[in-house]
Amino acid sequence: MPGAKNSVLKLMAAALMVPGTTILRNVPDIADVAIMSELLRRLGCEVVLDLADGVLLITVPGQLEHRADYDLVRRLRASIAVLGPLMARLGEADIAVPGGDAIGSRGLDIHLRGLELMGAVVTSAGGYLHAAAPAGLRGIDYELDFPSVGATETLVTAAVGARGLTRLENCAREPEVADLCTMLAAMGVPITGIGTDTLTIEGDHALAPVEHVVVPDRIVTGTWAFAAAMTGGEVIIDGARPELLSLPCATLCEAGAHIETTPTGMRVRGPARPRAVDAVTLPFPGFPTDLQPHIIALDAIAEGSALVTENLFEARFRFVAELARLGANVKVDGHHCLITGVPRLSGAPVEGTDIRAAAALVLAGLVADGVTHVLHVHHIDRGYADFAGALRGLGADVERVTVDIADVVG
Ligand code: EPU
Repeated sequence: MPGAKNSVLKLMAAALMVPGTTILRNVPDIADVAIMSELLRRLGCEVVLDLADGVLLITVPGQLEHRADYDLVRRLRASIAVLGPLMARLGEADIAVPGGDAIGSRGLDIHLRGLELMGAVVTSAGGYLHAAAPAGLRGIDYELDFPSVGATETLVTAAVGARGLTRLENCAREPEVADLCTMLAAMGVPITGIGTDTLTIEGDHALAPVEHVVVPDRIVTGTWAFAAAMTGGEVIIDGARPELLSLPCATLCEAGAHIETTPTGMRVRGPARPRAVDAVTLPFPGFPTDLQPHIIALDAIAEGSALVTENLFEARFRFVAELARLGANVKVDGHHCLITGVPRLSGAPVEGTDIRAAAALVLAGLVADGVTHVLHVHHIDRGYADFAGALRGLGADVERVTVDIADVVG
């Protein structure tokens, strides 16, 4: 199982904090890694990507730039991950404001409030955030308003360059946050509470570049598990870490799937037809919002009705209208979605609105009669390496084609 998109991007940014060569292994061959590599190069790093072996070498110079341009930030919202490391290393950062995206407005107030408490002055002009701490950052005691993944990562990395101790409460506990903290600890940062909601970081210590293996991608793992559960197929997922997916696995078992842990990962066997299952998305260890489209797609063909509640991103139900084009019986009311399963979906052209929605629409296409064209699959490339090829390897009839959209939509 390749490394997690939502970990590797932050590990790449964290490498900025120490001159020398950081080596990352188990790096996924995805578009977002290429864009983050470009951003690091513009900041002055040399980045060598050996995708065949999943190895990434980042050589950080003694002198770094501190500006993340809009042309990259608009393509990779996760560019904001360089904010904390640049503040730790340089005490200054100019980052294009990422703005909202297809899944919601995506605020930054928790990141910025924490940085201000550390002594940074944050201003915004011309579409850029400028953060500077001319007198250096200082350690703080701070309770995050919400266990935001990005804000936890910004503040943990900024704290690495702050004088004294930082104690952060109500932190995100996602495995990708823990992976970042583990790498920081290996670099020489005294950090406690990894994997819990309270992290303490002692700043201003000597750091050394490290070699680190990226945690396997639990959302890609979950995607293959849902594919098996929806199609009545069987998938062996090598390198998966089922303990990072306890709730999705329990939910799939409730839907009728059989899941076994194997010495190298896990095996998932789908039922003839799944039973409808409810889900409520919440920060880890709750049900991940990044598998919400997948569970709605499963419920769309399941026996019975289910209620799926989205608590993280206000616009993540946008894709439901596309699923309805395939014949799904779905009703959205605020942040709830009621799905009543139908025995078969019916193939049609649909638009992938974001990475997870597009992947879930492909899974829905596998169980739809006739041909389903999923448009805008470039979203899938952001986080899944050769998605169509991997599905074909599992026996699915999926092809990636370049088409004139007019030929598809008629
Ligand atoms: N939020 C604020 N203010 C803040 C920070 C967050 O209001 O200062 C809100 C956001 O607007 C959102 C919610 O809090 O409504 C959750 O945001 P969070 O910061 O936890 O998410 P993120 O860091 O922006 C990461 C992943 C997402 C994943 C979420 C939740 C990366 C690059 N992205 O986003 O992944 O859904 O955590 O687990 O790590 C994806 O891979 O498809 C994806 C969207």
